[in-house]
Amino acid sequence: MKITIFGSGYVGLVTGTCLADVGHDVVCMDVDAAKIERLKQGEIPIYEPGLESMLLRNVEAGRLSFTTDAREAVAHGVLQFIAVGTPPDEDGSADLKYVLAVAESIGEYMDDYKVIIDKSTVPVGTADRVHARVAEVLKHRGVSVDFDVCSNPEFLKEGAALEDFTRGARIVVGTDSEKVRERMRECYAPYNRNHEKLMFMDVRAAELTKYAANAMLATKISFMNEISNLAERLGADIEEVRRGIGSDPRIGYHFIYPGCGYGGSCFPKDVQALARTASQIGYEAELLTAVESVNKRQKVTLFEKLSRAFDGDLTGKTIAVWGLAFKPNTDDMRDAPSRTLMEALWAAGAKVQAYDPESMRETRRIYGERDDLVLVADRIQAVKGADALVICTEWKEFRTLDAGWLKTQLAFPVVVDGRNLFEPSAMKSAGLMYYAVGRGDTLALTRD
Ligand code: UDX
Repeated sequence: MKITIFGSGYVGLVTGTCLADVGHDVVCMDVDAAKIERLKQGEIPIYEPGLESMLLRNVEAGRLSFTTDAREAVAHGVLQFIAVGTPPDEDGSADLKYVLAVAESIGEYMDDYKVIIDKSTVPVGTADRVHARVAEVLKHRGVSVDFDVCSNPEFLKEGAALEDFTRGARIVVGTDSEKVRERMRECYAPYNRNHEKLMFMDVRAAELTKYAANAMLATKISFMNEISNLAERLGADIEEVRRGIGSDPRIGYHFIYPGCGYGGSCFPKDVQALARTASQIGYEAELLTAVESVNKRQKVTLFEKLSRAFDGDLTGKTIAVWGLAFKPNTDDMRDAPSRTLMEALWAAGAKVQAYDPESMRETRRIYGERDDLVLVADRIQAVKGADALVICTEWKEFRTLDAGWLKTQLAFPVVVDGRNLFEPSAMKSAGLMYYAVGRGDTLALTRD
């Protein structure tokens, strides 16, 4: 099938590359000429395991190409995916200007039947707005061309996006048109072989499904973080509680890991946008607001624990930070807990000595050169000459640790672990003061 993807960001590139890989003829369009130029040279603007080789092999095979020319892009595909960004507005609602600009381009240049597909995460009702915008442009042109708009939300996790696209649990399509159902079936047929994954539903149900999925997952995390804060204060070990509740199949083991708060491009933005959608229609979504505020508070706990260990004075201290990305296997720093920590440390007069396997370039891009931010080549150098260590991301390479060695490196042997990587008893017997999330040993800090 001939397919056009608008937006060569994370979602657009993964979608375009995966669809080309199963034999479709894909054109990716972006208004950012520099980005398209780089892609044409084979340079991938994002880090996603496996994407580069898959993309290059499809470009080579002539199934995937890039353009800035909207006319050419619209003419190409019978399927027109909209995968542009929907950044949060000032009030937290999703800004649709890029989505609607694509709708205008499609209306401007189309002269035969198109299925327009909302792939970006967009508020409920967006498909109707896209439909209206395209119709307006066509009317203005004085032409009549048939088209449909459907919703086909993505459920991609960064770091596992190719796997999620090719072996995802479901493919949700919101439409009331048989023509669209047929074409979407054809598009996804290669990914729909062993059991039926396509779920056709109403457009608004599909749009809400995406937000509901992310809000549910974010709720699980905030719930566990809330319970872990209680566990700290009650003298219970959250890791035992986690196993205890996860064993109930109604609850399950997934997404109940307590930590230093969720980050990334989806959960914070989507929970906020859904709460905003609710308030716009006069409904106060109390649970969503609570999920968000528990998360904001959780991100501050790393600094609070550290600060208490230093009696509230971190001036002139050097703090080693392991992990800067919001989660492992990505260089993404959006809403990462490490940022809340570093910014609080700088405000308190401390210096950060940090290491992350992938996101140091991104950290430099965000914060620039500054005396109180030293980025080092590995985790060993990060703790050299440092007063204490904070772990923000559970990269695999941080999971083994010679606690005795660490004790000799740190001037003041405090370890704040935002990801519960180690056994408190082992850390303690090596002479370290180990403060994790919701585990027994944090009591010393929170009881007095
Ligand atoms: C998420 C959804 O999983 C995906 O389906 C959706 O399309 C986009 O948003 P992503 O943001 O890439 O994907 O990351 P994910 O792996 O879900 O993790 C999100 C955050 O939650 C991370 O900061 C992670 O550390 C945190 N998390 C996750 C926890 O704190 N505890 C958990 O148990 C699971």
